[in-house]
Amino acid sequence: MNEGRPWWKTAVGYQIYPRSFFDTNGDGIGDLKGIIQKLDYLKSLGINVIWIGPFFKSPMDDGGYDVKDFLDVDPIFGKKEDAIELIHEAHARDIKVIMDLVLNHTSDEHPWFIEARKNRYSKYHNYYIWKDPKVTPEGKVLAPTNWQGYFGESAWTYDETAKQFYLHIFSKKMPDLNWEYKPLREAMYEVARHWLALGIDGFRMDAIAHLAKDLTFSDSLQPVGHRGITLDPTKFSSLPRLFDYLHEFKENVLKDYPHAVTIGEVGGNVSPEQSLDYAGYHRGPLNMVFNFDTCWENGAFGSEHKSDLEIATNVINLKQNFMKWYEQTQGQAWLPLYWLNHDHPRVVSQYGSILYRKASAKMLITTLLFLYGTPFLYNGEEIGMSNVDYEKLTQFKDVSALNYAREASQRLDEASILRFLRRTSRVNARTPFQWSSEPYAGFSTHEPYLAVNGNYPEVNLENQRHDPDSIFRYYQKAIALRQQEPWLSTVIEGTLELVDPLNPDVFAYRHLHHRSLLVISNFRAYETAFVIKDIVLGTLLHNYPQLVKKGLTLTLRAFETIVFEIETP
Ligand code: GLC
Ligand code: CA
Repeated sequence: MNEGRPWWKTAVGYQIYPRSFFDTNGDGIGDLKGIIQKLDYLKSLGINVIWIGPFFKSPMDDGGYDVKDFLDVDPIFGKKEDAIELIHEAHARDIKVIMDLVLNHTSDEHPWFIEARKNRYSKYHNYYIWKDPKVTPEGKVLAPTNWQGYFGESAWTYDETAKQFYLHIFSKKMPDLNWEYKPLREAMYEVARHWLALGIDGFRMDAIAHLAKDLTFSDSLQPVGHRGITLDPTKFSSLPRLFDYLHEFKENVLKDYPHAVTIGEVGGNVSPEQSLDYAGYHRGPLNMVFNFDTCWENGAFGSEHKSDLEIATNVINLKQNFMKWYEQTQGQAWLPLYWLNHDHPRVVSQYGSILYRKASAKMLITTLLFLYGTPFLYNGEEIGMSNVDYEKLTQFKDVSALNYAREASQRLDEASILRFLRRTSRVNARTPFQWSSEPYAGFSTHEPYLAVNGNYPEVNLENQRHDPDSIFRYYQKAIALRQQEPWLSTVIEGTLELVDPLNPDVFAYRHLHHRSLLVISNFRAYETAFVIKDIVLGTLLHNYPQLVKKGLTLTLRAFETIVFEIETP
């Protein structure tokens, strides 16, 4: 089901963050009916599959990734029937639906955890990972290990009722599940089967690298910070037992649904070579994995002390990271391609420029679409939505951003924290979709749960729909081009190579097949010359009205991008 052309290789995906997409009942929160209403819009964009972020019952400590009932829809999103209708309506338009499946943890408000902390002898206690405290000779109660979680805190929280610590590698309201315990695994397989039976076409598997933990529970030997903890992914990432669980998942869940797609989020610590254990055609239990290697190539992640002027995309690294994955997986695995998701800043702010919003947004999508893999767009990207303009830390309503702000306040002034969050926070991607210049960007009739970006009167879909030169109209054209033959075959079956790999400004590549493509993208706001060595047969896509060309040399203007058809060498 993997080699050749399963449906997901020829698809273009679109990720929806449901809370922020479209509100139909005027409570300021996006809902499933809102997605249903916008399906025709999505169809017009040209995408074929939507990945919808979690919409299960949840206290919303972490945007719905903290689940308290996997089988039901949270009332803020609507009813279970709405989910069923959404699947049905999407299918009626030939759009497939992928759901976020959160297997690593639940909410602490899940009935399993409520029972688990009450009763040490209940089977639900074994659903989670508990440890007795370390007690010092002076009688001080300490966490069992020095492990830090991804949201900046200790990975352990003491539970007064159970008199034990439980493990949580994300927020303390998200206890990790104990995948060593078979009844738990079976309960999670049941969840997946339940949604497949309702017609879901596959899963984006959240935080999948972390299901297996180092069961020796030994301290990390990495240096610890002043709080005595350290983030050491080797304690809970890609451990050997994980692959047993994933194979078992495949056997138990997917055997009746051979066309369902599984895309694991493996994050930043998996090499292309190792990814074959996850999603290699021959040995991998999944179909694809999302890696993080092409995010943060402007150094924003470690930029607490930098001014905006010091931030620039490292184009060479960016190209090499795409190529590293291509070279080490082609013919052996398939990849998803993306610029951002709900955990990242907006890509025009990151790799493009809001001064050149139009040109740079068009350049970015062009660069992505013709590489190796299945592209996933993120809602709002197609109209050039950019990072937030928030002036107050309290506006960053996100558990990881607020944990960070609290911790950083001990060493940084507020202005620096604000600047860093505007540059890196995942809130940037989560502000309401900008449908129009109506109040609240046409997202809702009520004040949204998260403030709309102040640029909405200018940056919104309504403005762009009828403007032939808009970002949205360009996305439509670019997607249609990728999806049509002969170019689809070129992208799926051709050979990819960089052109001028050490050029620090330009990302250029050839995709060679019976009919071949040359994509040239200037990642800078300044002009740069680029020599074409191929025989050009025609221009397929371009974000400026005319080429500036003297002999073989092109002058590329700010964020200029071109797709040429070239003679296959
Ligand atoms: C994934 C999600 C992220 C979430 C975390 C915990 O990384 O993408 O949004 O906070 O898992 O579920
Ligand atoms: Ca609503």
